[in-house]
Amino acid sequence: MTNPITNETHPPMLQVSNLTKTFAGVTAVDDVSFDVLPGSIVGLIGPNGSGKSTTIDCLTGFARPDGGRVSFDGREVTGWRPEQLAAGGMVRTFQNVRIYEGMSVTDNLVVAARSLRRFTWVEQVLKLPHVTQHEAELRNEALSHLSLVGIEKYADAPAGILSYGQRKLVAFAMCLMGRPRLIILDEPLAGVNPTVIRRISELLDTLNAQGQTFLLIEHNVDFIMRHCGKVIVLEQGRLLTEGPPDVIRNDPRVLEAYLGNYAEYAEEEALHV
Ligand SMILES: Nc1ncnc2c1ncn2[C@@H]1O[C@H](COP(=O)(O)OP(=O)(O)OP(=O)(O)O)[C@@H](O)[C@H]1O
Ligand SMILES: [Mg+2]
Repeated sequence: MTNPITNETHPPMLQVSNLTKTFAGVTAVDDVSFDVLPGSIVGLIGPNGSGKSTTIDCLTGFARPDGGRVSFDGREVTGWRPEQLAAGGMVRTFQNVRIYEGMSVTDNLVVAARSLRRFTWVEQVLKLPHVTQHEAELRNEALSHLSLVGIEKYADAPAGILSYGQRKLVAFAMCLMGRPRLIILDEPLAGVNPTVIRRISELLDTLNAQGQTFLLIEHNVDFIMRHCGKVIVLEQGRLLTEGPPDVIRNDPRVLEAYLGNYAEYAEEEALHV
């Protein structure tokens, strides 16, 4: 497959083929296929209920697809469990941030990373030197990611005291643990203020410039259009179209299915400010 920007040919990092998921008669994801090239930022957009989160639940092992295949880095990973996929380099955030409120912010990151390398029960109980060293490395890594996202001063605070926007940044930092190959973000901007939006925008730019690959679900269309090389549009579980932002922005079917809907939503939001 050829990257339209660099003209280089790379095999896709993620290849989704004919993915299907049904819930009690509702087909949430209907025969969806798409690719994500290494080093790209791919956007996944669509109206509420169009199947975006269910698609990534199926990719990341949080839901079992009823049909279709998922390949990651050339290996078929359909049906793999989330921790297997995370250990293989595919991680995600959730629309509703999942953190342990009673634990420190750093411990939340350390716990997120523990599943990447498992020690036996005996190794852990005896606190063997390589286990202790690994824990120390995880803490250092966690601190560097907290610093990158700009919340290092809360490293030792209980995560429960953080604001919603700060929790989103913790979720972002959690994803960075273990240097994943692919980061999937489910609505990273929802409910956060413009300062945090700017920070997340800068983080995407910085990490992508270092080669990090992202699959990004967002209702903030301007953000998607600014950051993504390719945009995939879902409508009622089906892939409506995909292409570069300029093409998607002007596609009448997309305007009808989603962007018109978004404009109404934005108007409503403006009335509530
Ligand atoms: N666990 C579930 N049980 C039953 N139906 C579900 C479940 N999860 C999702 N659905 C249904 O699947 C469809 C797609 O939902 P999904 O959450 O994937 O949409 P979405 O595009 O992420 O929407 P949003 O933009 O609101 O987050 C919806 O009709 C939803 O009601
Ligand atoms: Mg969703």
